[in-house]
Amino acid sequence: MKPSILIVDDEKSIRDNLAKYLSEDYTVYTAANGRDAVRVLAENTHIEVVLSDMKMPGMDGLELLDKVREDNKDAVVILVTGFSTIESAVDAMRRGAYDYLTKPIDLNKLEITIKNAIENKKLRSENIILKHKIREKIDSASLVGKSETIQEILGLIDRVSSTKATVLIQGESGTGKELVANVIHYNSRVAEGPFIKVNCSAFAEGVLESELFGHEKGAFTGAMYMKKGRFELADSGTLFLDEVGDLPLSIQIKLLRFLQESEFERVGGTRTIKVDVRIISATNKNLEQLVKVGRFRDDLFYRLKVVTIEVPPLRERKEDIPLLIDYHLKRFSEIHNKQVKEISREAMKLLKSYNWHGNIRELMNCIESAVVMNIGEIIDVDGLPPFMTIGQQNQALGPISGNLFDIEKKAILEALDKHRGNKSETARVLGIGLRTLYRKLNLYGELP
Ligand SMILES: Nc1ncnc2c1ncn2[C@@H]1O[C@H](COP(=O)(O)OP(=O)(O)OP(=O)(O)O)[C@@H](O)[C@H]1O
Ligand SMILES: [Mg+2]
Repeated sequence: MKPSILIVDDEKSIRDNLAKYLSEDYTVYTAANGRDAVRVLAENTHIEVVLSDMKMPGMDGLELLDKVREDNKDAVVILVTGFSTIESAVDAMRRGAYDYLTKPIDLNKLEITIKNAIENKKLRSENIILKHKIREKIDSASLVGKSETIQEILGLIDRVSSTKATVLIQGESGTGKELVANVIHYNSRVAEGPFIKVNCSAFAEGVLESELFGHEKGAFTGAMYMKKGRFELADSGTLFLDEVGDLPLSIQIKLLRFLQESEFERVGGTRTIKVDVRIISATNKNLEQLVKVGRFRDDLFYRLKVVTIEVPPLRERKEDIPLLIDYHLKRFSEIHNKQVKEISREAMKLLKSYNWHGNIRELMNCIESAVVMNIGEIIDVDGLPPFMTIGQQNQALGPISGNLFDIEKKAILEALDKHRGNKSETARVLGIGLRTLYRKLNLYGELP
């Protein structure tokens, strides 16, 4: 769709000429004075750019600008001025006009100014969305929990956020390590800087090194261009090294040097590069154990854990479960446009007593599928994913070994096996969504 533009000028010939010139690339509206323009804008809220003459009888360009700023905050205003009104045009910029053009209008300049105005507007709205998203993520209120351990973690985050100390976050899978890293960054002094994440277990050794430190052109076959690594991209911000326990020994040395001297060389390069980056790392492995068996350097371990945050598993803070459910229930209800408002007491009891091996991620998945499947405002026991209630029934029927997590896993894998790996069929038979099945399999490490 073409962008829309409104041309405002009391001189008909100017209006017509500009309209003709711009109509190839824009949907053009015209108005002969300020008052007309306000009416056209009110009827056509999609107009992105207003190109208005300054001097017009009745409502002039400046008044129109003020009106647009009040009513159509999204539209950008470009003013057209003769020599006599240049000073007011400068004043107009202060009052929120995007730019001004002098008469006679240079058509090339006009085109560029309009293009830039639209680009600028797009960036501005993206920026607003981004800021909004970030705020949603960073708010320390997004780290839900009233348990003593979560309160302690929030206190710790508060203290380390304002420093540049290296932080190590430890905890089981799905406990919220990445969320903690996010909250630290977005509450820190470098919140406006980049937050760059690397999953150290996601790359082969050689690739990881150049991902982290970049490479020079010709460093290896296929290195056709110089590439900056994530350390450089994270300059003036935070680098989050996820799954740091999987870092190969060869790269551990380079990381250690960075932590000691804030410098490194790109792969295949000799030039020393210095950057200012705060390191936050996370792992679900026991690093101390890895140090003992020689898979993790002890000097690096001590450098990384200047501040250590242990995120506890959900089973050790069951008092947080109702709050977490409430929080994610509202979120998913909104995301999926559902009217679900609460969980019945029975269902809550079940959710509270369940052993969440996959921690908060598993709890969230469960809530999401319950919200999606639910009809009405309340989720009852029968609205919970089948594995929760099946386990309960089986337990009532007689002894069955293992906890619910294992029982569910066994049931799912058996069903998958029975249907020769056909996931849609397996999901149908189990009465769960395909996405839920994928998530479960992912949790069990059964997906490639
Ligand atoms: N205290 C919390 N309050 C609300 N949501 C949370 C909380 N902790 C974690 N979550 C949510 O749970 C999900 C899993 O968290 P996150 O990805 O941070 O876990 P993780 O420890 O990094 O897991 P993994 O080790 O598997 O990478 C995320 O969607 C996160 O937003
Ligand atoms: Mg994680």
